[in-house]
Amino acid sequence: MECSWKVLALLVFASLGIQYTAIKSLSMTAMSPCRDVTIKKRCQHLKGSLCEDVNPQSRTQILVFAASRSGSSFLGQLFNQNSDVVYLFEPLYHVQHMFSKAKSTIDRRSLLGAYRDLLRNLFECDFYLLENYMNPTPKDHVVPFIFRRGASNALCSPPVCEHLERVEESLCSKKCKRVNLTLASITCRTHKHMAIKTIRIPEIKYLRTLLEDPRLNLKIIHLVRDPRAVLFSRIYTFVDQYRAYQIWNSSGRKPHNLDLSFIQNICTDYSNSVETAFSKPSWLRGKYMLVRYEDLARDPVRKANEIYNFVGLEWKENLTAWIEENTNAVVPSNVNKYTTNRNSSKTTDNWRLRLNFNIVKSVQELCRTTLSQLGYQVVDSIPQLRNLSQSLIEPRVFLPFL
Ligand SMILES: *[C@@H]1O[C@H](CO)[C@@H](O)[C@H](O)[C@H]1NC(C)=O
Ligand SMILES: *[C@@H]1O[C@H](CO)[C@@H](O)[C@H](O)[C@H]1NC(C)=O
Ligand SMILES: *[C@@H]1O[C@H](CO)[C@@H](O)[C@H](O)[C@H]1NC(C)=O
Ligand SMILES: *[C@@H]1O[C@H](CO)[C@@H](O)[C@H](O)[C@H]1NC(C)=O
Ligand SMILES: *[C@@H]1O[C@H](CO)[C@@H](O)[C@H](O)[C@H]1NC(C)=O
Repeated sequence: MECSWKVLALLVFASLGIQYTAIKSLSMTAMSPCRDVTIKKRCQHLKGSLCEDVNPQSRTQILVFAASRSGSSFLGQLFNQNSDVVYLFEPLYHVQHMFSKAKSTIDRRSLLGAYRDLLRNLFECDFYLLENYMNPTPKDHVVPFIFRRGASNALCSPPVCEHLERVEESLCSKKCKRVNLTLASITCRTHKHMAIKTIRIPEIKYLRTLLEDPRLNLKIIHLVRDPRAVLFSRIYTFVDQYRAYQIWNSSGRKPHNLDLSFIQNICTDYSNSVETAFSKPSWLRGKYMLVRYEDLARDPVRKANEIYNFVGLEWKENLTAWIEENTNAVVPSNVNKYTTNRNSSKTTDNWRLRLNFNIVKSVQELCRTTLSQLGYQVVDSIPQLRNLSQSLIEPRVFLPFL
């Protein structure tokens, strides 16, 4: 099919993510030739190998699907460190931020729909939909910032970064300046694969339409972590939000009226997702892998290899070095809250020494089913809780359903 105006107009709609159902009926063959022409044209401005597009059919998209404070930054980095992969750290932040500023309450379904649309566009290396979630409205497809840009190698390296060489994480936003989304999209297409991490999708079922989309070859890595550890990490990290929990932690007495529903939600979301996955629906076949953070932390190189095998990515030798460097290092005192550079075997069990037993008991009561589904043992006493030579992680093998 020719790259006609009509097809271009449809592509504009596609990039706005407006008519999802209409686009769905647009076949792959109708889209690709036109895209190729547009990309090649834009690409003439760029030099050398950057212009060689990867065949869309051979691309893999990876979603790191997790809850907040469950080790997803580390898992995301395992993809970011691979030069074949474009990695984005929580692009859905922009959607939620925009929606949360809206005056009227927004239906959860609409929000989840907007999340999916953005993920799908990004996975197709179309970054323009991000513009809808930026204020003020961007001009010429250039945006002043992208949330946690520093976590993405591709966005901190030329040509997306205006600097001549790769800029380190903490200086990226400042030194690389604005983001030209056209350039980001082109760069994305020259990478073999794409990975996105998000903590904003509550359950696997909300990803179904993406998994069924024939244009994507999407693989989900569902990262879970002991909910007691998740809670500990949140109290420790988000000091202001979790004041009441700190009081509870230091006094052992639960503050009156403390709302525990968010703990319940973490566990319900975990359970609902794994129950869906364990029931082996055809839309998850070959596309879902459950990973416990604790297993990843205990033997990161091996687990990372398994993950790479599952998604079908080639292992890179220097990933081993990166993992070793970033899991055994001594934590610096001014450690960044989101850093991935820490002693992972040590931090995994930290909560057992630093969370009040009464809190542990409450989480266990709320999450009994979930803990047992995921192979996390409950404790009945303080000595049992604090004795780190007794592991609470039952050996489990969660084989991907192929
Ligand atoms: C691994 O090697 C590739 C290619 O030489 C390089 O682009 C990438 O930055 C390296 N990654 C790490 C983590 O050293
Ligand atoms: C963004 O990058 C594209 C591709 O290199 C280029 O054609 C365009 O002029 C750039 N936009 C701006 C505003 O610099
Ligand atoms: C990491 O923590 C483990 C468990 O506490 C300890 O055995 C190991 O020596 C630590 N490694 C470093 C480099 O601090
Ligand atoms: C809870 O209290 C203990 C003992 O007072 C302390 O060591 C720990 O850091 C506290 N935990 C959090 C998450 O603040
Ligand atoms: C801790 O657990 C280990 C293994 O179960 C046990 O041998 C040891 O006696 C326990 N230590 C204490 C102080 O209870």
